Amino acid sequence: MDIGIMAGGITRRKSGAIIVGFFEGMKSLGGDIATIDKALEGAVSRLVDRGEVKGKLDEVNVIHSLGRLAADRVVIMGLGKKEGLTLDRIRGAIAETCRQLRKQRVDDITTVAHGVGVDNITPENSAQVITEGALLGLYSFRRHKTKEDEHIEVKKLTIVCSKEDDIRLLEKGSGKGRILAETANLARDMVNEPANYMTPGDMAEMAGRVAKDNKLGFTVLDEKEMQKLGMGALLGVAQGSCQPPKLIIIEYKGKNADEIDLALVGKGVTFDSGGISIKPSSKMDEMKTDMAGGAAVIAAISAIARLKPEINVTAIVPAVENLPGGSALKPGDILTAMTGKTVEIISTDAEGRLILADALGYASRLKVKRIVDVATLTGACQVALGSICTGVFGNNQELVDKIIAAGDETGEPMWQMPMYDEYKEQNKSDIADIKNAGKGGAGAITAAQFLAEFAGDTPWVHLDIAGTSFGDKERKYYIKGATGVPVRTLVSLVMAISGQK
Ligand code: BES
Ligand code: ZN
Ligand code: ZN
Repeated sequence: MDIGIMAGGITRRKSGAIIVGFFEGMKSLGGDIATIDKALEGAVSRLVDRGEVKGKLDEVNVIHSLGRLAADRVVIMGLGKKEGLTLDRIRGAIAETCRQLRKQRVDDITTVAHGVGVDNITPENSAQVITEGALLGLYSFRRHKTKEDEHIEVKKLTIVCSKEDDIRLLEKGSGKGRILAETANLARDMVNEPANYMTPGDMAEMAGRVAKDNKLGFTVLDEKEMQKLGMGALLGVAQGSCQPPKLIIIEYKGKNADEIDLALVGKGVTFDSGGISIKPSSKMDEMKTDMAGGAAVIAAISAIARLKPEINVTAIVPAVENLPGGSALKPGDILTAMTGKTVEIISTDAEGRLILADALGYASRLKVKRIVDVATLTGACQVALGSICTGVFGNNQELVDKIIAAGDETGEPMWQMPMYDEYKEQNKSDIADIKNAGKGGAGAITAAQFLAEFAGDTPWVHLDIAGTSFGDKERKYYIKGATGVPVRTLVSLVMAISGQK
């Protein structure tokens, strides 16, 4: 979709529709709406008087202009109450409105820069979230559809502003929004892809393309190299599948120093059948999304490469398939991880923590300053927080606070879970150093406590995205399927750490 920025009167811009915002409880019409109301000979005020236009969040009223304006339609987009307006509300409202217009076969949309002047909303960040909302909300995954259907693409979105001086700011914001949305959509593409099209090898190939396009350092470790490093936990998970495992490493260097400021580690289980501890067949198809953490960190580093902050970031993705083949890992087996710790396998379905144990071990050996891992780790986290919040766990409150703040900014809520030492008790094994699953509830926390053992003293945060990476309904700028969470938050965190907002 082409996104343009223009200065000039909204009544003169030719397009399929022009979107103006309306606040709940607004008594008198002002600004753009007043201009439009005048051109439509009071049609908007009449609809407000009759209570048809209320301005409730996500209310979309389409009025045909019948030649009274250059645009064919005017859309009155509800933004909720003015006090409490946030950038994320604008992001969500634009997404819903654009989707509705696409249903009406409108492919050329104009909008004003919403919310400017309210609270902390500037022309720049308004254009950013409008761009994000439109690109994320209009996303569709159609690669495997072979027949033509009703679907159309929106070809153009124009953001108009009244002041020439604002054009540059809007362009800057919109440019950033495009990078964030395009990379979140890249993660969505990878996650929506079925497991026969997204094997560990395919993931490595995709990562290689990202690295090449952005001139990033790129290494893939194969089975033999991982054996040499002693990555017994990762290799143990991979051994039941014919698909060879890969450890994918992408390096972004934004400053001239050897130290790595941040390692982003993402779980890349391209299919999780559960292994010998096999999952029930209902909804097992959804386990093609068990590489969403890996996809998120690959997508995030591609956004970082385009935004060029002065910071060094390395993305690490352990990619494996978890199947119950003849040589599969069995409950009761003991594996030795790269750090030398031995792990008793209670459930082969608790495989995410095993591959992350070795990826965290690898990151620690690189002497990174901080680690953030992202994983569809536990059904327990999905039960606890649903599809709204990502679970946050960590050994360093400063880093936890930074990621929560980044999530607030991007509209990807994060909720911190407790990490009391008492939970570690549940991971104690009688015959090995640790076991990969225990009894006693709090499954999301005990999984995080398992990971903590492998992160060691490095400041570390773990994001459990089991509930937030994939959705079954349209909501805000999400559609059914992969959400792209938490790509935008990871990028925002990196910008904050680098001191460049
Ligand atoms: N990939 C799953 C977690 C998951 C569940 C992700 C639902 C997305 C949606 C993970 O590997 C898993 O199976 N975890 C087990 C751990 C248990 C065996 C200790 C779980 O959560 O049940
Ligand atoms: Zn599993
Ligand atoms: Zn899994």
